[in-house]
Amino acid sequence: MRLSTLFLACFAFVACEQKPTPQPGTGPSGSPDGSAAGAREAAAGTILIGEVGSLTGAQATFGISTRNGIEMALDEVNARGGVKGKKVAVRVYDNQSKPEEAANAVTRLIAQDGAKLILGEVASTNSLAMAPKAQAAKVPMISPASTNPKVTQVGDFIFRVCFIDPFQGFVMAKFATEHLKAKKAAVLRDNKSDYSIGLAQVFTEKFKGFGGQIVAAEDYAQGDTDFRAQLTAIKSAKPDVVFVPGYYTDAGLIARQARQLGLAATLLGGDGWESEKLFELGGKAIDGSYYSNHYSVDNPAPKTQKFLTDYKKRFGVEPDSLAALGYDAAMVGFAAMEQAKDTSGPALRDAIAATKDFDGVAGKITLDANRNAIKPAVVLKVNGSKLQYITTIAP
Ligand code: PHE
Repeated sequence: MRLSTLFLACFAFVACEQKPTPQPGTGPSGSPDGSAAGAREAAAGTILIGEVGSLTGAQATFGISTRNGIEMALDEVNARGGVKGKKVAVRVYDNQSKPEEAANAVTRLIAQDGAKLILGEVASTNSLAMAPKAQAAKVPMISPASTNPKVTQVGDFIFRVCFIDPFQGFVMAKFATEHLKAKKAAVLRDNKSDYSIGLAQVFTEKFKGFGGQIVAAEDYAQGDTDFRAQLTAIKSAKPDVVFVPGYYTDAGLIARQARQLGLAATLLGGDGWESEKLFELGGKAIDGSYYSNHYSVDNPAPKTQKFLTDYKKRFGVEPDSLAALGYDAAMVGFAAMEQAKDTSGPALRDAIAATKDFDGVAGKITLDANRNAIKPAVVLKVNGSKLQYITTIAP
């Protein structure tokens, strides 16, 4: 474990520069701050929470959007006087989109920084690396966006504020069957990603359950940039749709190569496509594709629209679903902290577990007995350089 190569640590009170080289964070006052200062602050009446995210690397937009959302939640709660009369501070660690670094960050947040709650990760594989550490230390962890079922199965301290992939796979299979009238589907999955493997499996089962046929199933590995062999095999199987449950970087490239090879089938994805980079990476090739997501900026709910306006004002871009879920995860955590009898792990865990009808910007959050949120999904269409809301599918 090379802790020294890890981190960028910083508080969200101050601008957080994403330098590729490790550097000490800065405290709320802007003074140099190692982890010891974090502990000092906690002692001085600040409640410290931790955030672990992919701020750099292959899934960088996931971490950046999530951090922005969390930062907004933090500022809002502190403007209201904080939690239990104390200010809340968040220490952010960049895991460079790598599971080992994500696990190390949790160890450091708990053992050195004394964080009371962990927010993160987005990619399920990273959350799966983190969860056993949080569970063993009895420090609650809330994943904003990891959808693989195994994440919360790690134990009773692990929560999420989003739906899970058995539902998401059902949504896309139903959409392909009923809306697109697809009879034959191909699946192209990333066999290094727990998310991709799980979602491919559910889609396959559900699509068959709807009477469809899976005519090709191909694999690639995260980091691959040449998908032509798989796409050629898929093309010869003549599918109506190709389900690509990977992340945006892969989806963009896959779309381009598919079109170059003359594969014209409609491309479908899951929430992992959600990134402003999708348009740039996929260009015209990704146009007309569909993916399932946690929220749509077209949702007229006043709470969602206020978040959208505030976020745009602050960050200059529209919030994607990661920003919304990051905000919601933090707010659920703060509300639970306020309710909990103290900020010990078990007390906080009980309060989070009791979350019911929480009014989030990405929908109402009720946590079930397995610590997962039960929520509807939306289906979006890539339409030019915009996302078009198509439909909402409820559990
Ligand atoms: N659900 C994905 C996973 O579990 C992460 C993700 C969520 C990506 C939302 C984009 C948007 O790996």
